[in-house]
Amino acid sequence: MNTQELKHLSERLMTGDKGLLAMDESTGTCNKRFKALGIPQTEEYRRKYRQLIVTTPHLEESISGAILFEETLQQLTDDGQSFLAILKQKDIIPGIKVDQGTSPLPFFPGETITEGLDRLTERMANYYQMGLRFAKWRAVIHIDTDLPTKTAISANAFTLARYAAICQEAGIVPIVEPEVLMDGSHSLQTCAAVTEDVLKEVFNALYEQKVSLEGMILKPNMILPGLTCPDQNNTETIAQQTIHSFMKVVPAAVGGIAFLSGGQSPCLATERLNMMQLRYGPQMPWPLTFSFSRAIQQPALEIWKGNDQNIKAAQQSLAHRAACNSAARRAEYHAEMEKNHTSSNAGS
Ligand code: 13P
Repeated sequence: MNTQELKHLSERLMTGDKGLLAMDESTGTCNKRFKALGIPQTEEYRRKYRQLIVTTPHLEESISGAILFEETLQQLTDDGQSFLAILKQKDIIPGIKVDQGTSPLPFFPGETITEGLDRLTERMANYYQMGLRFAKWRAVIHIDTDLPTKTAISANAFTLARYAAICQEAGIVPIVEPEVLMDGSHSLQTCAAVTEDVLKEVFNALYEQKVSLEGMILKPNMILPGLTCPDQNNTETIAQQTIHSFMKVVPAAVGGIAFLSGGQSPCLATERLNMMQLRYGPQMPWPLTFSFSRAIQQPALEIWKGNDQNIKAAQQSLAHRAACNSAARRAEYHAEMEKNHTSSNAGS
């Protein structure tokens, strides 16, 4: 493992006021989002949509890295360029989702384990050859009565650490994503307690497996009340609790923290990131940014709807959401920026 090279790469991913764009939805997830908007669920439409994203003007001003899905690696734009080549021209580092989704965890109803470790070493060497320099693996933790169990937390932590070690051995920066879902009626305090337990277990496993913390990026959920919790806390409280929890359990050596959006509305996700930077920016030991999928893409997808005539407007919306999140990273985001962008709250 070349620790210096990995550290340098993670610094490039976390650079300045930029963040990451997750455009790695699996075929199933992408088709589900297309179906909801009446967009044909075909490989060609997924190609067109991802072409719209990577060719968005000014995207590189806010985005340092883009996480791709396997299918996209082989695809070409209308004029025959590979998506990887376009990202490189824009100096956006290409990454790849390498997990293969979740399966039920045997004997633990309601819990899941992420698949994809088989032959990962071989796949990773291939990705490196293709020019991919970072990867993503998502573990999913469910909150419910008596959930999560300790077994589900430790099985997912062990698997995340195995993945991260394999990445680093191949010269690829791992994005370690243990997502505690927003689904449910749990409180902010429950989300904080569960997320802290999960992160403690994840960092123990990473330590056991000799993963270099400087050469990895953590992709966590923000600390939020469940979607159906009657007490929806304000932005100030959410920012305070999120930073408080992370300061307790995320080692200072970690290359960076890049949040997932997890189903928050685009504006709220931006507003909460902004508040964390505004209140706690100078105290945080790690760079803190975004790695959103829905909170950047959803308004653009709703404008595009599979129609070529809407490409330009959809790209403007995508660039706008990326720029708002970049402003949030500088603690300079404000509601005024959403004027004339009426679709900004889509997907809530
Ligand atoms: P969301 O921002 O839509 O939660 O997606 C982030 C992601 O990459 C999930 O793995």
